[in-house]
Amino acid sequence: KWPEKVTIKEVGPRDGLQNEKSFISTEDKINWINQLSVSGLKYIEITSFVNPKWIPALADALEVANGIQRVEGVTYAALVPNQKGLERAIEANIDEIAVFMSASETHNQKNINKSIQDTIPILREVVQDSLSAGKTVRGYVSTVFGCPYEDSVDIDSVLWISEALFDMGISELSLGDTIGVANPKQVQKLLEMLLRRFPPGKLAMHFHDTRGTALANILASLEMGITNFDSAVAGLGGCPYAPGASGNLATDDLAYMLDGMDIKTGVDQAKLFLAAKFIQEKLDRLLPSHNLQARLTK
Ligand code: HMG
Ligand code: MG
Repeated sequence: KWPEKVTIKEVGPRDGLQNEKSFISTEDKINWINQLSVSGLKYIEITSFVNPKWIPALADALEVANGIQRVEGVTYAALVPNQKGLERAIEANIDEIAVFMSASETHNQKNINKSIQDTIPILREVVQDSLSAGKTVRGYVSTVFGCPYEDSVDIDSVLWISEALFDMGISELSLGDTIGVANPKQVQKLLEMLLRRFPPGKLAMHFHDTRGTALANILASLEMGITNFDSAVAGLGGCPYAPGASGNLATDDLAYMLDGMDIKTGVDQAKLFLAAKFIQEKLDRLLPSHNLQARLTK
């Protein structure tokens, strides 16, 4: 009942670094992304073309995109909030544009400085122009299981925003547990609603592992036929505009579990380990990946 094959979408260079206090040099970012590019990952979100005042850690987006060695068969994606971001992403020759908004009003406001209603027309134009420029577009809806500022998030908001993003022309929707609060029962409930409208291949799950439930949520998603998962090598990650959010599910933990279950990912765990170790050394603190720490103490 599990899928035979899963695509891991690596978001470490973007989600992983956007929240870091220390600035990882452009050279180190490029070196790290190059390591990820040859690890068997087929998709890497390398940076964000957001306002650098909001996310200083990724202010060198263009230099990073221009500096990496692109490997054939790997899709290089980046986060884009508006037209200005799209212009920069096109200049940087990004393959896939990722647009994003939240299911909760307050997080949307704090994260991108506008209401949900005001975000829709902006993203519609970004998606249209991305498609005209020959790019594919991925959509994120954040805070689907909980918001750092509101008591609960209405499933109906997730549903209508998902519909709206697909209507704009996105090819895949990533459902974000931004602050890592979800459990498998909630995942099942949300996916049951979404799978009535969209095929499983069009959906991706994006779990932060704040409370240690991410792998359990992956299993629940696999059982419902989901085959696209976002994760960050070494378990880096978090959103500066979501207080309390911690790292993404670690790519190395995800790959370890899936390999053991005979679910193909194409990812070479030994190479992933080296990339995880590299970024841990650069950040100079222990990172959350269980697999990384287990291998280092062997
Ligand atoms: P704003 O300040 O309202 O923007 O920010 P504005 O349109 O009023 O422009 C103000 C200034 O910013 C202008 O410059 C613009 O040119 C500049 P000035 O005239 O003052 O010199 N500007 C830009 N510069 C570079 N690139 C751009 C850009 N846009 C405007 N793209 C904005 C609105 C959306 C830009 C801002 O709020 C922003 O950048 N927010 C990004 C926040 C962010 O990146 N959050 C983290 C990512 S989301 C996430 O982590 C969740 C996810 O992982 C899924 C999950 O976990 O759930 C995806
Ligand atoms: Mg995230």
